[in-house]
Amino acid sequence: MNAHEIRTVAVLGGGTMGNGIAHVFARSGFGVILRDVETRFLDRALDTISKNLDREIKKGTIAAADKPEILKRIEPVTDLAAIARADFAIEAVPERIELKREVLGEADRVLPPHVILATNTSSISITSLAAFTDRPDRFVGMHFMNPVPVMTLVEVIRALQTSDATFAATMSLCEKIGKKPVAVNDSPGFVSNRVLMPLINEAAFCVMEGVATPDSVDAVMKLGMNHPMGPLALADYIGLDVCLDVMEVLLQGFGDPKFRPCPLLRKMVSAGWLGRKSGHGFYVYHQ
Ligand SMILES: NC(=O)c1ccc[n+]([C@@H]2O[C@H](COP(=O)([O-])OP(=O)(O)OC[C@H]3O[C@@H](n4cnc5c(N)ncnc54)[C@H](O)[C@@H]3O)[C@@H](O)[C@H]2O)c1
Repeated sequence: MNAHEIRTVAVLGGGTMGNGIAHVFARSGFGVILRDVETRFLDRALDTISKNLDREIKKGTIAAADKPEILKRIEPVTDLAAIARADFAIEAVPERIELKREVLGEADRVLPPHVILATNTSSISITSLAAFTDRPDRFVGMHFMNPVPVMTLVEVIRALQTSDATFAATMSLCEKIGKKPVAVNDSPGFVSNRVLMPLINEAAFCVMEGVATPDSVDAVMKLGMNHPMGPLALADYIGLDVCLDVMEVLLQGFGDPKFRPCPLLRKMVSAGWLGRKSGHGFYVYHQ
């Protein structure tokens, strides 16, 4: 399938990433079949998309008159059979390998054979996920960044089995929705998390060893390295549990002790200090 033949995209999962992915495709004129397991999750996704479109109208990136058309292009469904009408599919369900196996298997059975199936996983091997399907050559990683409507990058990750045609179509599809695709081969953490998470982990070591406070670590990186956000504020935003999980994936995937998770990070996760979502991480948030 060539990118210019793709008109309708199925998005599996309407959470943080799925609603953002549905948003950017609909904004670019694609039909979107947004699938989640319960209507209330779909309602929540459409509500978030509507609010994020309002924000874009305020910023002047889209016209107010376009909003109803954009929303109309998104068809919320709970019935998986509806995705059979899609020309391309992106999986964005929670990061649990058994759940991914089930969802990708189901989608593989319903989608027409020529359709490319992509995953937005942030840490699971694309090669292993491709092997769960009967279309491994038409399987690819499409790693969008959060928040999807705002962030330009998509890491396009080639599994060992991904064909050249699948890869080329996916790269060109990213451009059609105004994103900058960057080609990466399948490897633990891809490039984004392999570089970012050890940075966050090392920042946590600095706090644990009393080298500096979270504020000071973040100030060094913001004022000295021009990072828009300090690594510890970013860790709180991502979720400390997610950061710990990715460090475990890197440690296991490479077997190299340089990826050992910082004990303070582990301790904070055990305490339920997960960052913004729990109100307490390296910083305290008043919700
Ligand atoms: N949150 C991030 O910052 C981020 C960034 C990049 C990649 N990712 C990856 O994106 C994926 C999704 O993450 P998220 O943060 O959007 O998760 P989330 O928990 O916010 O959303 C997942 C959604 O999937 C739905 N779901 C569960 N089972 C389903 C099924 N069988 N069929 C369809 N939908 C189902 C859930 O109801 C939920 O709405 C994960 O693989 C994650 O690693 C997340």
